[in-house]
Amino acid sequence: MAQKIQNKFQLQDNFQRKFYYLRLSVTDVCNFKCQYCLPDGYQPSGKSHSFLALEEIQRVVRAFAHCGTTKVRLTGGEPSLRKDFSDIIHTVAQTKGIVKVATTTNGYRMKKQVKDWKQAGLTHINVSMDSLDPRRFYQITGENKFFEVMAGIERAFEVGFEQVKVNVVLLKGLNSDVLPDFLFWIKDRPIQLRFIELMQTGEMDRLFHQHHVSGVSIRNQLIADGWLQKKRLPSDGPAQVYSHPDYLGEVGLIMPYEKDFCASCNRLRISAKGKLHLCLFGEQGVDLRDLLQQDSQLPFLIDRIHQQLQTKAVSHYLHDGNSGMTPNLASIGG
Ligand code: 5AD
Ligand code: SF4
Repeated sequence: MAQKIQNKFQLQDNFQRKFYYLRLSVTDVCNFKCQYCLPDGYQPSGKSHSFLALEEIQRVVRAFAHCGTTKVRLTGGEPSLRKDFSDIIHTVAQTKGIVKVATTTNGYRMKKQVKDWKQAGLTHINVSMDSLDPRRFYQITGENKFFEVMAGIERAFEVGFEQVKVNVVLLKGLNSDVLPDFLFWIKDRPIQLRFIELMQTGEMDRLFHQHHVSGVSIRNQLIADGWLQKKRLPSDGPAQVYSHPDYLGEVGLIMPYEKDFCASCNRLRISAKGKLHLCLFGEQGVDLRDLLQQDSQLPFLIDRIHQQLQTKAVSHYLHDGNSGMTPNLASIGG
């Protein structure tokens, strides 16, 4: 096999981490009120919310693709609240070098729209589903949309997605003791559950101390039941994924408080207003928007991204109680 020539623009930081994966937020707006994210719902900031326009998205994705990015995840807020969401997917999917186009959605529009998203070029989908009990779902998300989201997941399979990833934020007392229910659900469904440890953000304090629970007990239960950890590829993210011969589904664990979590970091983030964030936590981001106005700015844009990347820290220091500048994850795209 011919050896792949190293792209001289490849994004790499001072800790030899390479970045192939861009998480691009397309809106801060969300229609859910998840307790751990936007408990009072989305509050417009007063200024008209000018989120990146389609052409700006096209330019920023082109720049990243030029620098070795192969995967883009469209996030929010709730990305499907953008009326031009299918056009955004299409634009990203058409960008030379991008082979995976993913989204993370709360799922409420999936049943109606997932076919269009697939046709536009979406290749991977993550849905948030924090409980399999409709009342609990309502309690956690503030929205009585359990059955819509469930129907959306089924619809995703009907329109041809081979696997759907389902995010579950672990919350002590609300969903951390129901592993058997979740496992039963994925026995015959190609769903990859992703149990995510609650991360402390700037706006959250009491909730974190009340509900944070480590993923370790889930990991121990899985291992005791014969689940085996899959080998990680260099391009994989920080999830530890387990599979079992009796289950079609898989289980991933995302444990940001675990030692060495940041060592496998391969992603960068762009906020809905065009700031580059090197980490979910601890920095303000650098504005790229002035360089997204014309195609001819591409070299300057690439230059700024490279310069900024040299300042990326080795770890998020969450262990030290750092929740940094990030008020909630809707503001920076999960
Ligand atoms: N801790 C962990 N996960 C979170 N998410 C949002 N806020 C937090 C938090 N504080 C998750 C949501 C969703 C994804 C976008 O991020 O569950 O699946
Ligand atoms: Fe919305 Fe996602 Fe935040 Fe829930 S976690 S409020 S669905 S952005």
